[in-house]
Amino acid sequence: MNPEIYAGVDVGSRNVICVVAEVDEENILHITGAGQAPTSGSVIEGVIVDLPGAAEAVSIAIEEAESLSSWKIVETAVSISGSHVRGFPGRGTVNVEREDEFVSGKVTWMDIEDATETAQLIKLPRESMVLRTEKCGYTIDGSSRLARPPVGLRAERLTADIYMVTADRTAVLNLEQVIRDAGKNVSALYPSASASARSVLTPDEMEIGVVLADIGADTTDIAVFHSGVLAHLAVVPCGGESITRALQQIRIPRYEAERLKKEYIDLTRTSKTRDREISVSTFGGRSTIPITDEVINEIAYRSAGNLIGDILCELKQAGIQESDLPAGIVLSGGTSYLRGLTSMASRIIGIPVEVGRPGGIDMSSSLIESAEFANAVGLVLLSHEEESEYEQRKMSNPLGIAAQRLKGLIRKLR
Ligand SMILES: Nc1ncnc2c1ncn2[C@@H]1O[C@H](COP(=O)(O)OP(=O)(O)OP(=O)(O)O)[C@@H](O)[C@H]1O
Ligand SMILES: [Mg+2]
Repeated sequence: MNPEIYAGVDVGSRNVICVVAEVDEENILHITGAGQAPTSGSVIEGVIVDLPGAAEAVSIAIEEAESLSSWKIVETAVSISGSHVRGFPGRGTVNVEREDEFVSGKVTWMDIEDATETAQLIKLPRESMVLRTEKCGYTIDGSSRLARPPVGLRAERLTADIYMVTADRTAVLNLEQVIRDAGKNVSALYPSASASARSVLTPDEMEIGVVLADIGADTTDIAVFHSGVLAHLAVVPCGGESITRALQQIRIPRYEAERLKKEYIDLTRTSKTRDREISVSTFGGRSTIPITDEVINEIAYRSAGNLIGDILCELKQAGIQESDLPAGIVLSGGTSYLRGLTSMASRIIGIPVEVGRPGGIDMSSSLIESAEFANAVGLVLLSHEEESEYEQRKMSNPLGIAAQRLKGLIRKLR
């Protein structure tokens, strides 16, 4: 029998990353393959701008992962980013059907679904579609918020709190097309921030209050968690590429600016240690010019400061206070490697900032330990979790989910 296989594809502004995982007999996920390919300008600010270019990058990354894992992927979970991805809270209340005149009824899975659907009844702009609905908690007859669905408990009314993430319909359709053009089906779509958070954050951090900031090339995906649930999700259209572009102001080619950023920038360094001269190629690569460490660090410092400022601004606009975030900020994405970024961010924002690495999965492949893989690893974890939850629900409910739906339909028709 073929094992249960999950795949995740992260189509980023700089890189496409694919991860394949296999489930063992104990229901534990093991990474069996990973692949990476540059998007080469086909994705800008998280949005696909060149279908064939993006499809080719996706094919290369998937083929690499498939060849390592020795399994052919049929379908894959995919993450979506870009500033069109937005989140907002919703609330829906339903009456629980009474047993008789004197006894209130028991909450059923159908009531949970009805309350969740009611919470989703928000008029969206025509160009938007619901990407995910995160269930945040339930209230019955004025109780405090319950984390688990109160199925079986007696109640008059049930309220569901949700957090909805929407995305631009066209951007979603283009992304799905790219995956299909690469010969695969899309099994599920997740916001990038949710995927990265799943693999990087711990349940303790999510309970106490934490921010996940996945800083890529063009975008920073932000997810805030409190009391174990998603409290805010947004995409800031700024990433490490802004620092590369700022370094290009000293009239050097992009590849040299990228090299300087990765090899010489250290945002913690004091000016005393910045007297080193670095030889840098000019445009066309015919000659080199000397550039001091101090000059490039000054430029990077200003640019990185703006990036952190944008993240802080997003948190402030969402009404998130320092006191809501005892676990601070956890960074993922390629830009989290920028030397000194964590201490700079911590100083500006005023809370602890750390780099997180993908976890929650068997890491036999050293490739996926890097921060750029957080997103794709999160995708396989979320897919597996969702499938396990669905199976559990099917088993715990003797009528089966289909029968419950039928019952609900009859109730609605009455
Ligand atoms: N060692 C490093 N130091 C500084 N920056 C780095 C380092 N390694 C990678 N980066 C930067 O990380 C960024 C790429 O990260 P990542 O692969 O997470 O982006 P992406 O997912 O393709 O883009 P996005 O999430 O914005 O759509 C690039 O800007 C790159 O310069
Ligand atoms: Mg990314």
